[in-house]
Amino acid sequence: MKYQIKDYLRHHGFVGQTITVQAWVRTKRESKSVSFIALNDGSTLNNLQAVVDAGVVAEDILKLVTTGSCIAATGELIESQGTGQSVELKVTALEVYGTADPDAYPLQPKRHSLEFLREIAHLRPRTNTFSAIFRVRHTLGYAVHKYFNDNGFFYWNSPIITGSDAEGAGEMFRVTTLDPKNPPLKEDGSVDYKEDFFARETNLTVSGQLEGELAALALGKIYTFGPTFRAENSNTTRHLAEFWMIEPEMAFFDLIDNMDLAEDFVKYVIRYAVENCGDDLAFLEKRLLEEEKNKPQNERSPMPLLEKLQFVLDNDFERVTYTQAIEVLLQSKPHKEKKFQYPVEWGIDLQSEHERYLVEKHFKKPVILTHYPRAIKAFYMKEETEQVNEKGPTVRAMDVLFPGIGEIIGGSQREDNLDKLVARMKEVGIEPESMDWFLDTRRFGSAPHSGFGLGFERLILFVTGMGNIRDVIPFPRFPKSAEF
Ligand code: 4AD
Ligand code: MG
Repeated sequence: MKYQIKDYLRHHGFVGQTITVQAWVRTKRESKSVSFIALNDGSTLNNLQAVVDAGVVAEDILKLVTTGSCIAATGELIESQGTGQSVELKVTALEVYGTADPDAYPLQPKRHSLEFLREIAHLRPRTNTFSAIFRVRHTLGYAVHKYFNDNGFFYWNSPIITGSDAEGAGEMFRVTTLDPKNPPLKEDGSVDYKEDFFARETNLTVSGQLEGELAALALGKIYTFGPTFRAENSNTTRHLAEFWMIEPEMAFFDLIDNMDLAEDFVKYVIRYAVENCGDDLAFLEKRLLEEEKNKPQNERSPMPLLEKLQFVLDNDFERVTYTQAIEVLLQSKPHKEKKFQYPVEWGIDLQSEHERYLVEKHFKKPVILTHYPRAIKAFYMKEETEQVNEKGPTVRAMDVLFPGIGEIIGGSQREDNLDKLVARMKEVGIEPESMDWFLDTRRFGSAPHSGFGLGFERLILFVTGMGNIRDVIPFPRFPKSAEF
């Protein structure tokens, strides 16, 4: 087994041993008699300090050791002489794998703006901030699989290329091999997709839910965890054109079961990150405090990052119906003082200013909003028949709203009655024949079932305290940008 810096820093058993560390140079400090090299191999936020006494390594080799270069350093691991680290490497031999010309390498040891780092997204994982974010991202992804595996869910892979529009919103990227300059045409002049690769129109999936429902009605409890794509022209800090979604789907779960699962699941993965990413989260907390220092008080986060995470773990999510939420908004100061940009009335699709008021100002904790008007939700949601609302029909929908983020989860109990589902599809203009395979689940052995989708990057935003979704995915895709 090859060890990494993380291992050397953690286990004192390595002290006194001769080891070789392969890593990138973060900084080099030189005095007459000794050079200090801060080494980082990505395994941890923490650097290992290598100490090179004068004369041990040839001058012309040592000259090549600059910020960003990659080296192998061999020597004895000793208890540190200085403060700030527990062990250090007393170098006896040094090999340079790859140099990094200081005049050309952009990541010199100074503060870089997140905007600048976004332009060099291929190098930014070498910074403390981004290596921390991507280690947290990994840990959350692992926790997702662990949670579901430990709770009897099966990992299910819905297709990436599909002929259906799961959300019925039509914001899809087309997949085609036809020549855009000279596509085959039908007699009426429209493109003939019968000639296309799949002999039909296809697109990148916007959600794995519908195929997930098929699986839940066979395997009981499943989850997907994969990329999803939306061609919506949203240039915000919360939207990506390519994002990762986690979609559990469960037979025999009603809306309450669904809410219970969502809350337990989200808390589990956050707790897992808190317990396993201590160094990285402490660093990100410091980063955020630093960033917010120059902001006016009312734009700063109400709590430091770790306290915020602990607060979410310690408190029950508030469960509120859409109708109650509208009441709260109608009674609110910003509504009465006409400070909301968008009007509030029963039936509106809540805007992010409304969601943020509810979560950050009124309830001051995560909120699960349920029972939205049927008219503003997807066709597959089950109509509520027990809690009749005089304002109009509602569905057993649930959105989980988080402070600073807004919607992090969307889900529902599904309409499991064939006739009702078909009627609803016709109402919203979906041809039932086009989704016959989906309707078979309702035709044969239909069952009550529920599910939800968690936006992975929105979860990472919350846990890392970052402000822009483009900074929590390695290579963000958004309107007018698909660099790298
Ligand atoms: O609310 P949405 O659109 O729900 C669905 O797609 C359902 N089929 C899920 C289900 O019930 N299985 O999306 C779910 C979540 C949102 O709450 C949000 O966190 C995230 O996906 N999301 C996005 N994240 C980043 N960029 C975008 N453009 C997103 N759109 C949705
Ligand atoms: Mg939604």
